[in-house]
Amino acid sequence: MTLDIFPWPYILSDIVSEGKLGVRTAPVDLSAHSFWEQPQAARERAFARLRADAPVSWQDQPESPLVPTEGLTGGYWAVVRHADVRAISRDPKTFCSGRGVMFEDAPQEFLDATQSFLPMDDPQHAKLRGLVQKAFAPRHVRTLEDGIRADARVIVDQLEAGATGDFVERVAKRLPLMTIMRMLGAPEADHERLVAHADTLVSWNDAELLAGREPLAVIGEAIAALHEAATAIAADRRRHPAGDLVTALVGTEVDGARLTDFEIASFFVLLSVAGNDTTRHTTSRAIRALCDFPDQRVALLDDIEGRLDTAVEEFVRWASPVMTFRRTATRDAEIAGQPVTEGDKVVLFYPSANRDEAAFPEPDRFDVIRDPNPHVGFGGGGPHYCIGAAIARAQLKALFTELLSAFPQLEVGEPRYLVGNFVNAISAMPMDAGPRRN
Ligand code: HEM
Repeated sequence: MTLDIFPWPYILSDIVSEGKLGVRTAPVDLSAHSFWEQPQAARERAFARLRADAPVSWQDQPESPLVPTEGLTGGYWAVVRHADVRAISRDPKTFCSGRGVMFEDAPQEFLDATQSFLPMDDPQHAKLRGLVQKAFAPRHVRTLEDGIRADARVIVDQLEAGATGDFVERVAKRLPLMTIMRMLGAPEADHERLVAHADTLVSWNDAELLAGREPLAVIGEAIAALHEAATAIAADRRRHPAGDLVTALVGTEVDGARLTDFEIASFFVLLSVAGNDTTRHTTSRAIRALCDFPDQRVALLDDIEGRLDTAVEEFVRWASPVMTFRRTATRDAEIAGQPVTEGDKVVLFYPSANRDEAAFPEPDRFDVIRDPNPHVGFGGGGPHYCIGAAIARAQLKALFTELLSAFPQLEVGEPRYLVGNFVNAISAMPMDAGPRRN
């Protein structure tokens, strides 16, 4: 169902939707595959309607290519306002992660093998997150920064004046790949292959990427490859400890027991997915925005060092590369006056919250000096707030410093977007680097 054919204004209805008697039907169907196939601008207009008229709307269960229809677990409340996304994120006792965090249903084996502490609640969540927390703390990230800056320099140095090709392949993809694969201790020769598998795990709704293959078969293959790599690294680190994350994981005990190879591999998969395409797509969307808003490029070029901190926050707000995460109500409660029942699923729509006119003056303006910028691109706060936020900020800062200093006139063309409701992805985008300045 596309927005164009959806009746508007909508009619108040007592249609029964997944047992929600008396709940009015939503003016926009967020579960339809066709909703996510639309250009971003159309999605944003739809979210604006929802924020104005149905900020907490009941939506039918999205179809999932990963689960047969009889295995689907029902509809959900769609939360689209900034204040509500923040409040729910910060109230894990009422809105828990332990009953699943994905928008779509997926087989439990897939979730167990890929999500580690993401779909857990405290105290288990805190214990497992705590095992790797130190490596992500701002103090430790400062020690990674030299390496991140050096990698950014290499990426930009490899671009010649007038360089063309795919911006995603040549620029956006490379820095996150280098950082996370090195943190995990993967052999350099395997980096590209492992990241390609990690990409697969967030792309199951994209027909072009699947190229006629069965989503579950492709996902199974990717999980097997990532688990195999993680298990080999873990075996090696038991014999030869190194300074990486896997060494930290093989050496620790939780509740008196060592982590199993499967648990370590699930950590490995979570980090290689979460630390990879998020920063990549933010980079692509930010450069696209700098082309669409030339005055903002001029403003940034005027004082790259002085303005990059605020610009990076705006890049993340604008890109909102993670679009959805779910919670489940643990008791009867209210969200912005809407009663919800124990067991109801609640989905947070970050791109909508990041364009909420109640939180951001002129939200549709890309503004590199926006301040304050209370975006929820890294989550709305609370225990699951992005563990990699400091790393992502350091990466974006290093890359854009190098890129804009060397290629101030770099232009990108029309992106190829990936279809999906989880990651807001650009899979390819032509570029012309223009003249080189240094
Ligand atoms: C611009 C880049 C990034 C964005 C926009 C982003 C966004 C997010 C969001 C929205 C969440 C969920 C927050 C919540 O549920 O409250 C999250 C969680 C997470 N992110 Fe990021 N992320 C980025 C980069 C990274 C990087 C570089 C890493 C790792 C190196 C990473 C690792 C994680 C992990 C492990 C979680 C789960 C945390 C938990 O459940 O406790 N992210 N991220």
